[in-house]
Amino acid sequence: MAEPHESRVYSDFAHLYDHVFGRVFVDHEYEVIQSLALRPGQRVLEVGVGTGISLGAYPPYVKVVAVDSSAEMLEQAQGKIKENDWRHIELAQGNALSLDFPDDSFDVVCAFHVISVVPDSRRAMAEMRRVCKVGGRIVIINHFRNENPILGTLTAVINPVTKHLGWTTLLRLRDVLQDNSVRVERRERASRFSFHTIVILRKEG
Ligand SMILES: C[S@@+](CC[C@H](N)C(=O)[O-])C[C@H]1O[C@@H](n2cnc3c(N)ncnc32)[C@H](O)[C@@H]1O
Repeated sequence: MAEPHESRVYSDFAHLYDHVFGRVFVDHEYEVIQSLALRPGQRVLEVGVGTGISLGAYPPYVKVVAVDSSAEMLEQAQGKIKENDWRHIELAQGNALSLDFPDDSFDVVCAFHVISVVPDSRRAMAEMRRVCKVGGRIVIINHFRNENPILGTLTAVINPVTKHLGWTTLLRLRDVLQDNSVRVERRERASRFSFHTIVILRKEG
C-alpha cells in the first residue's frame, strides 16, 4: 500500500490542495505564526511547506526558508511568492528526514501537518531539533492519535483510507515529545472542535 508521503494529493492533485485542505488548515497556521512574535532578522525554516498556505503570515522582516519534497507543491508555493513579491521567502526542494542545513541554523522551525506524512516522524523531529538554535522554537500543528482507547481505535480504523489521502492517523503526540532536550511551551487543541494540536517546543542546551 502507498505510504502517506506518496499520496497523489502532493503530486498530481497539488493544484487542488488549497481548495480541499488549505482552507481547513490556514487559520490555525496564521494564528500560531502570529503568536510567535517574530523579531526582525530572525531566521525561520518551514519544513513541508506544501503549497505555501502559511507564507503570508510571516512578517517581511524575518528570513524564511521553506522546503518540501514535492516539486508540484513547491510550484504552487512559488506562484504565491511571485504574486505577492515576498522577497523574504526562499523555497527549496528538500527532505525533512535529511535537512540540508548546518546544526543550530534557525530561530524557529515550523512543521504544519507534516510529521504524520513523512515516513519517519522521529527522524524528522530529530532533524528539526538539530537545525534549530539552542533557545529556539520548534512549532508543530498536527493531528495525533487520540489517547482515549475507543477514539484512538476509531481513528486507527480509517488509517488505510487516510494513508491514500496523505497522512497517518496512528502517530501519537508522545512519540513526538520523546526527546528530553526540548521543553513544551504550548500544547493545546487548535480550537474547541478541531482534531489538530498546536505544540511549541523550546530547544534546550
Ligand atoms: C499535508 S501537506 C502540508 C503542507 C503545508 N505544511 C500545509 O499546512 O498546508 C504535507 C506536505 O509534506 C510534504 N512532505 C512529505 N514528505 C516529505 C519529506 N520527507 N520532506 C519534506 N516534505 C515532505 C508533502 O509534499 C506535502 O507538501
